[in-house]
Amino acid sequence: MYKKIIVFEGIDGSGKTFHLNEVSKYLIRKKVKFIKFREPGGTINSEIIRNIILSDKSTFKKKTDLLLYLAARNENYETLIKPNINKKVILIDRFVDSTMAYQHYGFRINKKIINTLNKFVLGNLKPNFIFFHFVPINYIKQNISGEKNKYDKFNKKFYINAQNGFIKILKKNKNKLIIDSSKTKKYNIEIIKNKIDKILNIHD
Ligand code: TYD
Repeated sequence: MYKKIIVFEGIDGSGKTFHLNEVSKYLIRKKVKFIKFREPGGTINSEIIRNIILSDKSTFKKKTDLLLYLAARNENYETLIKPNINKKVILIDRFVDSTMAYQHYGFRINKKIINTLNKFVLGNLKPNFIFFHFVPINYIKQNISGEKNKYDKFNKKFYINAQNGFIKILKKNKNKLIIDSSKTKKYNIEIIKNKIDKILNIHD
């Protein structure tokens, strides 16, 4: 039952990284072996690519960014996913749905190209479960707080488009749970942990 790929998705500031870290602590307590990484980023090489993409001084074009996200993903696939796929639970902070939500629904890059690139890198690999963090429209900030990278500076409309994109992508996916980011942390952590127990067959 173990050995699953579990992804945390949602627009910037939706709380997915917080929840991924909560799940990590929970798996440590339950002695479940896992690895975790973020995208873009993850391996040393992918973190180098992350810094290039997200630098607030970056003037790279949209298609350049797309290719860099996929380049970073390939490093993660070869170095982190492949060797661990049948050994450990893999927790990922953003994955393929982020690319479709941001690069297609946000930046209007052709869907087919994105699918082809993902297939080129990942073959038929798909996450087993997705926690999608939904931010009610009134809660979407014009600017994301904290340290700002290039992608934290888009306008509210951009994040609304990206979020609607996530909803479209995930509509047909049964292996997901929608987390309402406006609910309390305590409430959300509880439902996420219950779901993790079911997905990974964890008993008390
Ligand atoms: P990050 O600071 O990690 O955002 P967060 O903490 O909210 O996850 O920045 C990652 C940014 O990269 C985020 O704005 C979304 C963007 N992104 C894409 O546009 N395409 C992708 O394929 C991925 C993985 C991320």
